[in-house]
Amino acid sequence: MRKDTIAWTKKDLLGLEYLTKEEIELILDTAKSFKEVLSRPLRKVPALRGKTVANLFYEPSTRTRISFELAAKRLSADVINIEKESSSIKKGETLIDTGRNLEALKIDIIVVRHHSSGAPVMLSRAVNISVVNAGDGWHEHPTQGLLDIFTLREKIGNIDGLKVSIIGDISHSRVARSNIWGLNKLGAKVTICAPEKLIPIEAEKLGVRITNDVDDAIKNADAINVLRMQLERDSVSAFPSRMEYFKQFGITEERLKKAKKNIVVMHPGPINRGVEMSGDVADGANSVILDQVTNGIAVRMAVLYLVAHAKRK
Ligand code: CP
Repeated sequence: MRKDTIAWTKKDLLGLEYLTKEEIELILDTAKSFKEVLSRPLRKVPALRGKTVANLFYEPSTRTRISFELAAKRLSADVINIEKESSSIKKGETLIDTGRNLEALKIDIIVVRHHSSGAPVMLSRAVNISVVNAGDGWHEHPTQGLLDIFTLREKIGNIDGLKVSIIGDISHSRVARSNIWGLNKLGAKVTICAPEKLIPIEAEKLGVRITNDVDDAIKNADAINVLRMQLERDSVSAFPSRMEYFKQFGITEERLKKAKKNIVVMHPGPINRGVEMSGDVADGANSVILDQVTNGIAVRMAVLYLVAHAKRK
């Protein structure tokens, strides 16, 4: 593996807000090496042999949970999956107690998804083992931000100066926050676009351009990242109906005719087809949505590898 992994000193990955540009680039470069591993006939390396990763998910997930499991297995780690419904969380055990018990069970890395913003930070302070944030409330989804940026680097190249528009429910979106932190640190020019009520109060402090006009957001963009309307998190109450949202903000082939020919279309998934994006755009020539999913494995391998081998200060 790369010599410069010695530069990684953090036991946890909690958010892109807390990383330097160099640390983000180190994760992306390490992920590139692991993507090559995934293209081999034998898609496995012994980098985490003897380590154990616990996936602790308090919220549903398809892409993140499965790709963390695959990432750990491709690195030869042992993996356990803890579901809220079939564990002692159901009996009222606290997150901290669950984490301390996992540490007592000699787990090396806890990957946690939680409905409360800040839960992974709290857990990381309570245990000496590594904690990786797999999405917390409205706060951050750092590995999603990283895999989005990794995909942009792969499809377009240098992030510095790239025009990226993030479109949809910014207020409730941890994906938006991680993308904004990461893209800004790498020098991209970020625009956020949403109905007025779905722009967060702190938006002006985020160093982004703000618009409520989706055609304006698309017009000069090199890439758009279209967010899911979070039906479980009150996204839709900010708009009279899903149909009206689609009419004003939905990404359609018609709208993309006014965009750059090679505009890259991303979506973190799961997609609400016909709400934030039409099916033909999701499956169209500009879409890299499934590449994002594939890249998630390499990025999560890089994160697990780096936190497991951190030279802690
Ligand atoms: N993008 C994302 O976090 O998807 P899942 O909820 O399926 O993990």
